[in-house]
Amino acid sequence: MSEQPVLAETIPAVREAVARTRARGLSIGLVPTLGALHEGHLSLIRAARRDCDFVVVSIFVNPTQFGPSEDFREYPRQLDQDLKRCGDEGVDLVFAPSEQEMYPKGFCTFVEVQGLQRHLCGPFRPGHFRGVATVVLKLFNIVTPDVAYFGQKDAQQARIVRQLVRDVDLTLRIEVCSTVRERDGLALSSRNQYLSAAQRQRALCLCRALQAARRMVEGGERDADRVRQTMRQIVESEGLAELDYAALVDPDTLEEVRQIDRPVLAAVAARIDKARLIDNLMIVPF
Ligand code: PAJ
Repeated sequence: MSEQPVLAETIPAVREAVARTRARGLSIGLVPTLGALHEGHLSLIRAARRDCDFVVVSIFVNPTQFGPSEDFREYPRQLDQDLKRCGDEGVDLVFAPSEQEMYPKGFCTFVEVQGLQRHLCGPFRPGHFRGVATVVLKLFNIVTPDVAYFGQKDAQQARIVRQLVRDVDLTLRIEVCSTVRERDGLALSSRNQYLSAAQRQRALCLCRALQAARRMVEGGERDADRVRQTMRQIVESEGLAELDYAALVDPDTLEEVRQIDRPVLAAVAARIDKARLIDNLMIVPF
């Protein structure tokens, strides 16, 4: 049996709960999400539950991180089911604000982590990381967590959030949790809900491309272009997957590498009908 977590829909309600928690000397962990919770999200919640006394999950489909032609309207919203899942995981507080609560009339401040947002998904999703950085900073200020949890599935986002924390001198710790996959390798994503059974099969080309890259590097390949070409071919051989990028980047700077002589991040993004999917894998060349 599990208890429903407390639901807070306003910033003052969260601040009150946080003040009570702090008065008891408890530590606070935050898991920011867009909702439609799956096992990937739950792995972050479990890590927070393990490390922190009081676990907050935010559920907010953040409009500022969606481009005008993206899936903001269709993005799955299933608060009742999410609350139940949070209850089962022992979450203490769910913060599910309205758009008005987060972006009241007159809102005009945005945060941008320059440089890192130029790579990978950045050029394909103009304004996306600015929206992410802005909402994440707001959530950090509202919840004031000791630790916040992010998934390696969104490696660029996690890297950008780390940079944000460093650059504006926040004192919280960022934990990045490994990617949770289906048994056949497909990385869990709320956007997998958009896929038909046939499209889901095609979506496997993303993780197959990454696994092929790993095999090449483990087999001694050191030329990044050859690895990128193989990844591209694997995704493009799925006739109905439209590749955005197949990249091999330095995990710190996110810049493309030429020679694979240190750990690299292999990353792919492709569109399968209206679902834009991303995946990545760290590869160590030894
Ligand atoms: P969302 O896509 O809901 O993801 C919330 C968190 O769950 C992110 O840190 C993401 O990396 C992590 N996650 C998603 N799929 C995962 C998987 N298969 N394995 C492990 N972790 C996974 O990312 C966002 O929301 C938003 O941009 C947000 C940070 C909430 C800002 O609005």
